[in-house]
Amino acid sequence: MFDVTLDYPVYSLDRRLLLPTGTALMEEDLYALMSSNTTENLKQIPFMQFETVREDILLFLTQPPGDAVFSDEEDVAEVMALMDHVQFTQPILDSVQYFREYDPYTYRHILMVFAYSTLLSKDLIPHYRSRIWEAATGPLHDFGKICVPVEILQKRSPLTREERNNLEHHTKAGYVLLCYYSQDIGNLAARVARNHHERRNGSGYPQGINLDDRLVEIVAVCDIYDALTSKRPYRPVSFDNRSALEEITMMAEKNEVSWDIVQALVAHNRQRKTHFTECNVSMEKRGIPPPNNVYGILID
Ligand SMILES: [Fe+2]
Ligand SMILES: [Fe+2]
Repeated sequence: MFDVTLDYPVYSLDRRLLLPTGTALMEEDLYALMSSNTTENLKQIPFMQFETVREDILLFLTQPPGDAVFSDEEDVAEVMALMDHVQFTQPILDSVQYFREYDPYTYRHILMVFAYSTLLSKDLIPHYRSRIWEAATGPLHDFGKICVPVEILQKRSPLTREERNNLEHHTKAGYVLLCYYSQDIGNLAARVARNHHERRNGSGYPQGINLDDRLVEIVAVCDIYDALTSKRPYRPVSFDNRSALEEITMMAEKNEVSWDIVQALVAHNRQRKTHFTECNVSMEKRGIPPPNNVYGILID
């Protein structure tokens, strides 16, 4: 069971306080919170038809490195078909709209993680229905960032320890919020929101567990890949594709992430789309990470 104390409050998108700082989060707190959600609309709406989501995804897939990963038309068609099944309730769509308006980095990021993780699910998840469930977690993995001040999300200089803690709170907040909105404590998207920064060797956060959950790990790998290859507020120049794949390969070498997920990502980056089980990941490190990368550097 997820048994932690909240270091920051959890707010709904309309700024209602759901749980205050210091809440020692137990199962009964979550059930009480979920049952307090009597007003939320549970009607499901197709995500791809929401605002400009479909055209934005199609545009992002033409930009590097998405254009290389999605160079196969059949892949794109299959991924779009899977994504077309994904439906969300209105409060979830409101959060996507919030990022679109106030934090375009996160908006682009959640759509790219949606596309990448749906693509990898084709290789790594056997059943079509499960792939749709997996796909539906991609746009929601950073849901908890609605509780992180936009000034922190968009800060260009190194984060202080306090700001970093506040940013890391998005995992716990995302879990609480997705349990609340879905009214389902076993919700896969809530689990992904909570654990996508955990690592197999226990070096992640918020709990430092040994992540052993493929569905979460697929999103985690896609999350890292998109974060590295995108311009970020704290890093105006992104990692080139080779350096990014090398960083992720090093993470597999340290047992932070699984080899076969890295293989699948690398296979889609090759011009000849070999099956991932036949893809030899290069151990050579020739990439040059970008200069002035302040991610992970703390000032107190
Ligand atoms: Fe995250
Ligand atoms: Fe993310």
